[in-house]
Amino acid sequence: MRIGFVGTGAITEAMVTGIAGSGLDVTEIVVSPRNAAIAARLASRFQSVRIAKDNQEVVDTADVLFLAVRPQIAEEVIRDLAFREGQRVVSVIAATDRPMLLTWIGEDVQLTQAIPLPFVADRQGVTAVYPPNAEIASIFDALGSAVQCETRDEYDLLAVASALMGTYFGLLDRATGWLVDKGMAREKARAYLGQLFTGLALAAVKEHQTPLETLRREFSTPGGLNEQVFEDFERGGGNQALANALERVLHRVRG
Ligand SMILES: NC(=O)c1ccc[n+]([C@@H]2O[C@H](COP(=O)([O-])OP(=O)(O)OC[C@H]3O[C@@H](n4cnc5c(N)ncnc54)[C@H](OP(=O)(O)O)[C@@H]3O)[C@@H](O)[C@H]2O)c1
Repeated sequence: MRIGFVGTGAITEAMVTGIAGSGLDVTEIVVSPRNAAIAARLASRFQSVRIAKDNQEVVDTADVLFLAVRPQIAEEVIRDLAFREGQRVVSVIAATDRPMLLTWIGEDVQLTQAIPLPFVADRQGVTAVYPPNAEIASIFDALGSAVQCETRDEYDLLAVASALMGTYFGLLDRATGWLVDKGMAREKARAYLGQLFTGLALAAVKEHQTPLETLRREFSTPGGLNEQVFEDFERGGGNQALANALERVLHRVRG
């Protein structure tokens, strides 16, 4: 399988890094020349990576073609390219829906959309894929795990969920900052909280059959400190703020 990328930016670098170290049967990874520095870095790091002379060469070479340019220039870039009938095309471009992409592509391709996250570089990324496609899902399974969406609504909801990354780090940052304000060394506070959150994330995955509400109770002694923090968070409007923020993102995602 030859894999191509039009748009060699941050997410392409993450995907190529993950693919190159995976067990996937990939004979060649062809990347577009922009961004020049990232393309050069990938070609020097991985033998299987070749820099194409232009975007069309990427399309012509790829059995599976990833479109990974920013939404603002997507139409201009895609309309300029000639695709093959039946070609497997994966768009990772945010906020650009399927009918629009198909119009710009102007050919009867097998189009899939996906939301890879930076962790695909370490093959720890969870990737939403729409519509279901076993071959594309197997690529993302090799980069962590794929979640195949049956409907556009499901896909949009996972796009909303993926917008929680900044809040995760924001929460860690605020809690670390609070400990620092109370006199603790930042490095120690960060090391403690980073590992605490890692343990919690692992528990959520490992105990996937246990309802999260049950886990919350199991990790909170009745009348204890954890219960008190969650009650204060709820009383202070934390849960409502979270729900409102997700609603507002859903509104944007649906356009
Ligand atoms: N980053 C993420 O975590 C993430 C996750 C999921 C989806 N996405 C989506 O993936 C897409 C790319 O995101 P990104 O974060 O990788 O952005 P990015 O780092 O800005 O990468 C986009 C790349 O496209 C290149 N480019 C500009 N004009 C081009 C052209 N005419 N032909 C080919 N390439 C061109 C840019 O090169 P220059 O630097 O030379 O301008 C840039 O390196 C976006 O649609 C984004 O929504 C990103």
